[in-house]
Amino acid sequence: MCSIVQAKGYKTRTRLVNIKKAKYGLNSVSLMLSLTLTGLKLKNPLMLAAGIMGTTGGSLKRIADNGAGAVITKSLGIEPTSGHNNPTMVEVDCGYLNAMGLPNPSYKNFQQEIDIARGAGVPVIASIFGGCALDFSEIAGVLDAEAFELNVSCPHAHGYGAYIGTDPALVEDITSAVKAETDAPVWVKLTPNVTDIKIIGLAAQRGGADAVVAINTVRGMAIDINSGYPILGNRFGGLSGSAIKPVAIKCVYDLYDVLKIPVIGVGGISDWKDAIEFIMAGAVAVEIGSAVGKNINIFKDISSGMETFLAKKGWTINDIYGMVHKI
Ligand SMILES: Cc1cc2nc3c(=O)[nH]c(=O)nc-3n(C[C@H](O)[C@H](O)[C@H](O)COP(=O)(O)O)c2cc1C
Repeated sequence: MCSIVQAKGYKTRTRLVNIKKAKYGLNSVSLMLSLTLTGLKLKNPLMLAAGIMGTTGGSLKRIADNGAGAVITKSLGIEPTSGHNNPTMVEVDCGYLNAMGLPNPSYKNFQQEIDIARGAGVPVIASIFGGCALDFSEIAGVLDAEAFELNVSCPHAHGYGAYIGTDPALVEDITSAVKAETDAPVWVKLTPNVTDIKIIGLAAQRGGADAVVAINTVRGMAIDINSGYPILGNRFGGLSGSAIKPVAIKCVYDLYDVLKIPVIGVGGISDWKDAIEFIMAGAVAVEIGSAVGKNINIFKDISSGMETFLAKKGWTINDIYGMVHKI
């Protein structure tokens, strides 16, 4: 195992797995998936993605109680906003198109929700957004969470998200401004809607990011052929779900190659095989969004599927981390 792998969060996991294996054998696998990610202890590498069931402490806690290793809030901005006009979400082949427009109650009204979610005993990560470095650092300077995920990647909120996250200089500036404001780990969530995601990942790393998260939704559009109208109120939105998994896998694969910091994978995960694929591509941990809507038990299902697979193969998760790069 190379030193980068150790740095990316697996040292603790290997030690725990070895202790567990020695004591109980491979069938007792409750520690098999545990890890330390940017200093946070996770019982498994499966996290709730931002924007899905993340608007109240109660719903975040429910997801955590249902097996998530960590939960991420809906993206929070400076002022309360109601988002785009309806329809804001539509199911399409193999996924969903959404243009919520970052509706949120403002970070100023959210601390109590984070504290409620903390009752589940897993790390609560605050997803935050803003229009400039000052916005991001204001939020990170006040809100108390186990980590911050910087949303510089939402594809459908003018002046925010991907409007910022396609510019490497801005991503570096925002990341370093947030790092200066908080001691909590800072993750930067990247957009796939760029020519080369590695350039943006490297900018986040230069800014001091503790991890990057890939990917947010892929810009897309659907049209109602009976009326000729775009289906979403915002005309276009972001595609999520199974359709984007190969895009996300390639982004994780590319980022793993160039970064020293951990890559967290997200995009189209709906079962344990998808999660394994992301880890083989180079993700230390993964986030799950769209698929949670159809199966609230998905975190438990994926954990046990991964454990069974690894036990059958006689592998640790360490063995499969970035596996495809070694072939
Ligand atoms: C309805 C909806 C709302 C979302 N809201 C946010 C958000 O507030 N902040 C963010 O960073 N990503 C948001 N996302 C993107 C997801 O976190 C995730 O990156 C994306 O959906 C891909 O993962 P999935 O295929 O597992 O859903 C949202 C996605 C959906 C479907």
